[in-house]
Amino acid sequence: MSISRLAQNLTGSEIIKIAGEINELKKQGQNIANLTIGDFDSNIYPIPAELKQAIVQSYDNNQTNYPPADGVLDLRQSVSEFLKTRYGLEYAANQILISGGSRPLIYGTYLTLVDPGDKVIFPAPSWNNNHYCDLTSASGVMVQTHADNNFMPTADDIRPHVKGATMLALCSPLNPTGTMFRKSDLEAICDVVIEENKSRKAGEKPLYILYDQIYSQLTFGDFEHYDPVSLRPELKDYVVFIDGSSKCFAATGVRVGWGFGPAHIIDNMKAIVGHMGAWAPKAEQVAMAGFLRNAAAVDNFLDNFKQRIRKSLDALYTGFQQLKSEGFPVNAIEPMGAIYLTVQIDIKGKTTPDGKVLNDSADINSYLIKEAKGALVPFSAFGTGHDLTWFRASVGACSLADIEAMIPRVREALAKLK
Ligand SMILES: Cc1ncc(COP(=O)(O)O)c(C=O)c1O
Repeated sequence: MSISRLAQNLTGSEIIKIAGEINELKKQGQNIANLTIGDFDSNIYPIPAELKQAIVQSYDNNQTNYPPADGVLDLRQSVSEFLKTRYGLEYAANQILISGGSRPLIYGTYLTLVDPGDKVIFPAPSWNNNHYCDLTSASGVMVQTHADNNFMPTADDIRPHVKGATMLALCSPLNPTGTMFRKSDLEAICDVVIEENKSRKAGEKPLYILYDQIYSQLTFGDFEHYDPVSLRPELKDYVVFIDGSSKCFAATGVRVGWGFGPAHIIDNMKAIVGHMGAWAPKAEQVAMAGFLRNAAAVDNFLDNFKQRIRKSLDALYTGFQQLKSEGFPVNAIEPMGAIYLTVQIDIKGKTTPDGKVLNDSADINSYLIKEAKGALVPFSAFGTGHDLTWFRASVGACSLADIEAMIPRVREALAKLK
């Protein structure tokens, strides 16, 4: 083939294949509760009104030329203030990098810290680390996590792999699970990294942490967000944070992300992201700078948005708990943060009314799409084995009414199995 080995070897997204099945049924006029995409229906969840007005105003003010490579200074200063007031984190404008959403920052972190062949540790399930390892020819070490720890990694899971590793990629609240680190669990992981770095010789690459906290403003009830640098300040030289506006302001299409970390790493990331040209549009940057400083507007939006997302997650959670109490082989983990619910539908080996045996999570998902008109994403799309019967349900693109209406259909579909 006349294309690069890298392009040939990149694996396609399993979620896109599922989207194909859903679209096929939609074409036939069927109404599917689509819980597959980590996005929002912007008619159900529009961006904050103040942000929208400010973006329009920025275009009216002709903010349409190239932004600086590391982002508009006023936005980097505004992010710096936001980090201080919301997280107690001290990062100056020169330790912050703006890009077109958060993805270029993740890729930029990999390209800045990881050489081909370097070991990168990440939990499974997790979001896209396998693809970033492929893109950078890193040697990915997947650590399988477990339902009894809410699918979050522990120090014991990670410790056996840290020798010689270059990066540990962590995320909390986690996509795909909607679960979060407990303080003591993250502290223990931090201590493993500190111990490992103490054991390394001068001149040797340290073990870095990529800490993706893009969902950190979306936490529910008593669940609190923790980060490695607040828990262990001595890690500050080794942590690159990924954050941004896409999820917390329902602004996935606005494309403003921010990363922060040690100035020399951010400087190198700036050069890499600059060559990619993966900047956030200038008008959106100018608008975001003002919006982040408007604490009342931010709080107002978050209060309302979180309440609505939580209602949808709770409806799904209680729906599955109800089915469980009726004796169906399902389960769900309490929603903690983000826009996701972790659901188990343990019907592997069962036979459908038309005589098909459900052999793996893909079969289960197809059955639910056809019979329950509800679509989830198997954890296998996030790096676990196909035998696991756990799924991600994402509530941002569905109305509460559609979610509530799906539960009786799931009941019927489960009752039909033998
Ligand atoms: C954990 C996590 N990090 C980063 C991103 C990327 O966000 P963006 O749309 O800002 O590129 C996503 C998007 O789904 C995500 O789930």
